[in-house]
Amino acid sequence: MSQQDLKGLVEKLAQHGDLVEISQPVNLSHGLANVAHAIEERYGVATLFHNLEGHQGASVLSGLTSTYGRVAFSLGIDLPVLKRRLVEALKEPRRPSHREQDFLDRATVSEGDVDLLEVPIPTHAPGDAGPYITAGIVAARDPETGRMNYSYHRMLRLDSTHLSIMINPGRHLDDYRRAAEKAGATMAVAIVVGVHPAIMLAAAMRYPGDELEIAGSLLHEPIEAIPCLLSDILVPAFSEYILEGRIDPVDRVEEGPMGEFTGLYGAKSQEYLLEITSISRRPDPIYQTILPAGKEHRMLGSTLPREPLLLNAALQISPEVKDVYIPPYGSGFLAVVVFDPNYEGEAKNVALAALSAYSTIKSVIVVNSDINVYDPEELIWAVLTRANLNKDLSILPHLLGHPMDPTAVEGLVTKSVLDATQLPGQTGFDRVVYEHPADLDKYLE
Ligand SMILES: Cc1cc2nc3c(=O)[nH]c(=O)nc-3n(C[C@H](O)[C@H](O)[C@H](O)COP(=O)(O)O)c2cc1C
Repeated sequence: MSQQDLKGLVEKLAQHGDLVEISQPVNLSHGLANVAHAIEERYGVATLFHNLEGHQGASVLSGLTSTYGRVAFSLGIDLPVLKRRLVEALKEPRRPSHREQDFLDRATVSEGDVDLLEVPIPTHAPGDAGPYITAGIVAARDPETGRMNYSYHRMLRLDSTHLSIMINPGRHLDDYRRAAEKAGATMAVAIVVGVHPAIMLAAAMRYPGDELEIAGSLLHEPIEAIPCLLSDILVPAFSEYILEGRIDPVDRVEEGPMGEFTGLYGAKSQEYLLEITSISRRPDPIYQTILPAGKEHRMLGSTLPREPLLLNAALQISPEVKDVYIPPYGSGFLAVVVFDPNYEGEAKNVALAALSAYSTIKSVIVVNSDINVYDPEELIWAVLTRANLNKDLSILPHLLGHPMDPTAVEGLVTKSVLDATQLPGQTGFDRVVYEHPADLDKYLE
């Protein structure tokens, strides 16, 4: 079985004890999401639901990429090298291989037979406006360069053939939408659901080329892509679901709220209308979902895919930067940089580079390499024992942030950089470190 086939990975994750299969019936209206969330919080594993009320034959997968460990396992690498792999993948993209036509057995319905109610889209959080496609990757072609683009957009099912789609300003998809608006035409797109984590991660990254190139690099082989039935859009061949359609680049519909990566419900908003014109699915399809405001939403939307960008920016200032971590508990607003400065003020320069690399980031903390940044206790300890806020904290008002930042005023937020490092030889900061005996077990016999 191809390593790009999600079905093979699901089997491996189950054998590895990192995925639990649920055969008890669940209903798609909150029931599935409540169970998936409870299991994720308590056991940290992914869930595959086989018994969906009202949907025979399909399964729903939740939480595939909610932990760094599961992502590393899916890529066949060890956790400590995950971040470096992402940095390398951005530097060494690998072009997808294009097949002339589909080579998998799929059931397809088009035009008059399309019925989105047959796709098992769950309604997730209690306050969500309805069933949202949350793990759908939207494939579109740049009308100017002809290159493909893949990105996530939340989509609310409105009726049997229509979705709303949230396209934030600044996204590549928004550039294409504006071009379609200018040309007075609709925009062809395809939505794929149920793909390998390499493709999920790549689609969440900001990359000026075809994101499948990054996914191919992560898997060390070209991603196999096939053409759509109704357009020249290319989609990953092993996608469990392929929904084709067209976006009206002008008309808007009200949608929302939906739980967001901030852990809050976003406000209602006016979004674009997407008409679905065909649905193809593999036999026994795995429909994939991301719990709004859950761990996976934060992981993919705000943390791991952003870290290579910040790391590269910080490395421009000093090649001695060791790591950048965007902790999930910071909702994507906080970044921690690991760096041992040699000069007063150097840590803040590095912090400013990381801060500028992505507009959602609003606080950067720099700590020395003796701090385990993956442990929030150590991070807070470093801040409280090594930073003198009077000189080490710089407040930067009126900068462009994320529109969903609850503290933003018309998109503008107050940001900060904090130097919580000590310089070599600086006194007063020496940490108490015990030497643990290598033969400790002897003392416990
Ligand atoms: C789970 C998830 C949901 C997202 N939802 C949206 C959304 O509704 N609208 C949007 O514009 N961006 C959304 N994003 C962000 C974009 O998909 C992401 O920034 C992507 O890298 C943009 O691609 P681009 O650089 O090709 O524009 C979401 C990301 C994730 C991971």
